[in-house]
Amino acid sequence: MSNQGKVLVTGGTGYIGSHTAVELIQSGYEVILVDNLSNSELSVLDGIEKITGSKPQFEQFDLCEKDKVSKLFNENEIGSIIHFAASKAVGESVEKPLLYYKNNLLSLMNLLEVMNEGKSDAMVFSSSCTVYGQPDKLPVTEDAPVVPAESPYGNTKQVSEEIIRDACKANEKINAIALRYFNPVGAHESALIGELPSGVPNNLVPFITQTAAGVRPELRVFGNDYNTPDGSCIRDFIHVVDLAKAHVIALERILESKQKSNFEFFNLGTGNGYSVLQLIDAFEKVTGKKLNYKIVDRRPGDIEQIWADTTIANQELGWKAELGIEEMMSSAWKWQEKIAGK
Ligand code: UD1
Repeated sequence: MSNQGKVLVTGGTGYIGSHTAVELIQSGYEVILVDNLSNSELSVLDGIEKITGSKPQFEQFDLCEKDKVSKLFNENEIGSIIHFAASKAVGESVEKPLLYYKNNLLSLMNLLEVMNEGKSDAMVFSSSCTVYGQPDKLPVTEDAPVVPAESPYGNTKQVSEEIIRDACKANEKINAIALRYFNPVGAHESALIGELPSGVPNNLVPFITQTAAGVRPELRVFGNDYNTPDGSCIRDFIHVVDLAKAHVIALERILESKQKSNFEFFNLGTGNGYSVLQLIDAFEKVTGKKLNYKIVDRRPGDIEQIWADTTIANQELGWKAELGIEEMMSSAWKWQEKIAGK
């Protein structure tokens, strides 16, 4: 049984981190959020407080600084870690690979080191379906081969999983679960927290909502000549609140010693594939807004289609995504309207 104590949420003011913090607090956990605010804002804490009625403890620093990580663990009773903090822009990682390897790997190693020192024994790690590349078989299962990554960002997720696997093998007292996310979208139903992309969004849904709001003149759809029913890429979009809930369940699996081995990994998706054009259609239907979009060339590095086999996550975690594409689109739009009105 893992020691209890606070749950450290790294990247806690980020998109998935903030939604997970809400679910943790609402499930009765005490949390400490750490973030260097490189890609998020302090105002997120107000959103979390408004939803949950309690302001979480927050520490601003960079997890690459080992002395600060050690100090945090020495000064707080931290039972477990949910590790989100990482750089995540695929294109930027191609231009600045060393920054990505340093940020994403050093912060993880610092956390694993304090775990090895006996200060915490449970970690839930934020991984990605990017580890599968374009799988041969769909839906993709957890035993599909991990293929060479298309980008340094993708590689940091693969290497991180390997580092955690090796660390768990060498020290049976530490426990970890890697969650391989498909495409997280949407926002909390309160519209008090959501995704806050800095600058021009890379990801599809923030680009859709910003185009509908008039922030961007048009959406470019990258390719309609893929071997899919409508020619556009297919992804497994999952509501961020469903994803956040899965983190609480994964954490409890570790805390309640239900793991089959001290390192496990699960797919987190809905199990349904939607094409980019289907998603645009769903957005238009749900919001009544007409999207100005045009088809352009394929984006280099994009895979054609992927969606998750969620059987193992459903059976082992007892978790299933509950929110559909309508809730994803309506909450993303509600959030966009909220931030546009600020
Ligand atoms: C990427 C990463 C994934 C990461 C996720 C969130 C890869 C292969 N995938 O997912 O690991 O977790 O970002 O950061 O590294 N699209 C458009 N127009 C746009 C934007 C996107 O048509 O303006 C299309 C893309 O071509 C793609 C789909 O929408 O087919 C989804 O793109 P995006 O939201 O960027 O996510 P992924 O590339 O699937």
